[in-house]
Amino acid sequence: MTINHKNNRDGQQDRLFSLLENIMHVTQLIPINARVYYLKAAGKSPMIVKQFPSTQQFQRQKLLTDHLKKFSFPTYQFLTDSDTLLQSLGEYFAIISYIEPSIRKFSFRSETDRLSGIFLLNQFHRITTSLSISEKLLFPPFDQEMKWNIRLQQFKEHLPLFNHLLRRELLDNYLTIANWSLEEMERYSKHLLHEDNVIIHGDCANHNFIRDNRGKLYLIDFDLCARALPIIDDLQYVMRILPFVNWNISSIFSIAPLKKYERHPWFLAALAFPSDVFREINRVLSNASIAVDYKLHYIRKLLVEQYERILYVYHQINFFLKKL
Ligand SMILES: Nc1ncnc2c1ncn2[C@@H]1O[C@H](COP(=O)(O)OP(=O)(O)O)[C@@H](O)[C@H]1O
Ligand SMILES: [Mg+2]
Repeated sequence: MTINHKNNRDGQQDRLFSLLENIMHVTQLIPINARVYYLKAAGKSPMIVKQFPSTQQFQRQKLLTDHLKKFSFPTYQFLTDSDTLLQSLGEYFAIISYIEPSIRKFSFRSETDRLSGIFLLNQFHRITTSLSISEKLLFPPFDQEMKWNIRLQQFKEHLPLFNHLLRRELLDNYLTIANWSLEEMERYSKHLLHEDNVIIHGDCANHNFIRDNRGKLYLIDFDLCARALPIIDDLQYVMRILPFVNWNISSIFSIAPLKKYERHPWFLAALAFPSDVFREINRVLSNASIAVDYKLHYIRKLLVEQYERILYVYHQINFFLKKL
């Protein structure tokens, strides 16, 4: 039996191990991160165990993956149901089928992977549209404009901490672009009305796509799934792949499933919002274990380094908007 104690947060791994030993002969329990473990048991295929914050979270994810399976969508299956969910001290753990990743990992660096990723995400949306209204209501609603308004507000509240460290013009331009983006999103929000809600994935990051050794691509991790329009995921996906195409907006629109956004003013305006920079700053500032001086140094560097590309993206977007 291998227990890697490095990540044994407050004995969580020991508790999980005891729960699992009641139902199988565990031979390996290896933490992947603070809430996810690789599990091997005698006579069984490898598995994943993941911690869930509540039974409701687990239940809606199980419902979602069962629905996806009916349509042969490539993802994992829960091997646990509500009755067999593992529980200890208010922690809930579910067992999940393991997808053996290929040596060559999925990466947004690869043009073919960027294309396969968006096709898979679109397929995910097509399938989740067909959930019933009451099933969709199990998921929280997602409001992009509200989320970014809050993010911008937090950034503004933190400004007195670091505005003396930066050129006035630089901060002014960050704020101008952010405000402009939110105003334009609001102004063009009627362009969103003709679409239907789906379940969005909500975390379209590189590491939530897994390619197996036969080359098949899977989408995993439904923790941030929410009720919203597919454009919300598409927008996040584009923001994730932009660094890998040198922030060149035209190369995004040469990807067939994304071509339609070339003439979508809400989407274009949203692309200008410096969401990753603000998120990172808010994240660093709220981390109590980082020294204040280091935080300020880090934030100053981040704002300076990202400034040119924020302007570059903004100028490209204006070029596309003028063509409408
Ligand atoms: N079913 C699975 N098969 C293979 N690897 C998995 C599976 N589930 C999770 N993983 C691995 O564990 C990592 C974290 O799991 P994930 O469900 O994405 O949790 P988190 O919410 O912490 O991102 C994934 O990025 C992936 O590398
Ligand atoms: Mg993940």
